[in-house]
Amino acid sequence: MSHDDAASIHGGGPTNLPRRTFIKGVIAGGVAASSAGYFLRSSALSAQARAGTVERLVTLEVNGQSRRVDVAPQETLATTLRYKLGLTGTKLGCDRAECGACTVLVDDVPRYACSVLTHSVRNRRIQTIEGLQAADGTLHPIQQGIIEEQGFQCAFCMSGFVMSAVAFIAKNPNPTREELAHGVSGNLCRCQDYDKILTALERGAEIARGAAREA
Ligand code: FES
Ligand code: FES
Repeated sequence: MSHDDAASIHGGGPTNLPRRTFIKGVIAGGVAASSAGYFLRSSALSAQARAGTVERLVTLEVNGQSRRVDVAPQETLATTLRYKLGLTGTKLGCDRAECGACTVLVDDVPRYACSVLTHSVRNRRIQTIEGLQAADGTLHPIQQGIIEEQGFQCAFCMSGFVMSAVAFIAKNPNPTREELAHGVSGNLCRCQDYDKILTALERGAEIARGAAREA
């Protein structure tokens, strides 16, 4: 599920179409979109694979550190982070670009780590949930907001939501609740705890604004 697909869930669907027309549109458009999405993803992964077949021992920049790691040609970033580098804060849910649990930042942009080949992000800045807190241990405002509002139930989805929210408020420091919902709409929560999650993320954005004023 793409960020936009998920956004339509959060934001509600079309309301003015006759039901029959709407269903026809969903069936036709949905099948086309799914097929196109699968094809594009396959093509992208193949292209990334071709680009990454030369050398297995690579250097990645993860959370501000250079990490040497042996990476298979078809290996995803989520696999490398979790099973080679021990960064298990990045979760694997669907493993097919639908849930957002694996979201990390690549050059400050949220990416689904389950659907990015590690070889394609050499020489890029990768940030995971483990790299958010400051050197003195101060949590990122989004993390602090979650602690204050107790925003998640099982929290399996939490690190993905946090990474998406961190990227979103960096560009939109004063979002409305609706804008924030759209900003993290590529992340799904199986516990369906969205109301509390949004409250926590709003609190995080508020803390970030306070810190920016003091700086
Ligand atoms: S594990 Fe679900 S999007 Fe990556
Ligand atoms: S809090 Fe359980 S999956 Fe989100």
